Amino acid sequence: MKKLLVFLALPVLAQQLDTGKRIFESQCALCHGPDGSGGRGPNLRKAKLKNAPDEDVLKKVIVDGIPPEMPGAWQLHPAEVTATAAYVRSLGKLVVEEIAGVPAAGENVFANAGCVACHIVNGKGIANGPELSAIGSRRNAKHLRESITAPNSFLPDGFQILEVTDAAGRISKGVKANEDLFTIQLTLSDGRHASFQKASLKGLRRITGQSTMPAFNSLAAIDLDNLVAYLVSLKGAE
Ligand code: HEC
Ligand code: HEC
Repeated sequence: MKKLLVFLALPVLAQQLDTGKRIFESQCALCHGPDGSGGRGPNLRKAKLKNAPDEDVLKKVIVDGIPPEMPGAWQLHPAEVTATAAYVRSLGKLVVEEIAGVPAAGENVFANAGCVACHIVNGKGIANGPELSAIGSRRNAKHLRESITAPNSFLPDGFQILEVTDAAGRISKGVKANEDLFTIQLTLSDGRHASFQKASLKGLRRITGQSTMPAFNSLAAIDLDNLVAYLVSLKGAE
């Protein structure tokens, strides 16, 4: 009798994984990669997911998302949520991401290449770019590598770049730090802050697809590998 049940359960499971795969490819792959290995969102091909330790939490993450970066799939039917969760778990049984570099060596590269001038890690550094203390739990290695060599490829929320032309025609470009009805504050690429009266500006342009982070293209391959390994190791407070 037990054997028969197993035979009956198998096709149902296969069908559920099929449904989950279909949903994953249409709604999750954009950020987590077609094979779940990550991109803008973290790699899901892991046995343990930090933000989804068990089935119930995993389902809740799928439905509610993780603000502000992951949207919830609230429109899914509960059976579809279960199927998607089962598919995500099946990914975890597959291979883990292989990283060539050595995190400790990457930490030195991070300090020497000047990354600390714009990024905070565990309370140290300057906040001209996003805090990176937990970046390794949010992005995969491929995305991190691209963030270093081609920063324009993706700008995370909160890093909107503006170009203002003041009354004298001088142009300043920087990350928007603050804006109210009358003034706008920018953080310039050298870390200085500048405040402008909006009424006096000749021009205000919101720039998309251009980062204030310089592209680090001339790092030695080994330094880049180590740097990526270091960033991947930054998982935040467990
Ligand atoms: C717009 C991009 C985006 C989409 C679409 C998206 N996610 Fe995410 N997801 C993220 C990001 C970014 C995180 C990390 C959030 C954080 O930790 O702050 C995340 C986190 C997760 C986590 C937790 C991972 C961990 O290591 O704990 C799971 C599980 C997950 N997503 C599953 C899904 C599923 C399933 C779908 C489709 C129904 C989906 N995501 C759609 C961006 C996305
Ligand atoms: C002049 C300031 C500046 C310097 C120097 C700088 N960054 Fe950035 N970085 C930024 C800004 C601003 C962003 C957000 C916009 C973007 O993604 O391009 C960013 C984004 C990133 C991201 C992506 C974060 C995410 O949420 O996806 C990573 C990873 C990163 N930087 C790593 C580095 C490393 C490693 C170095 C040193 C080799 C470095 N940065 C040097 C300003 C800087």
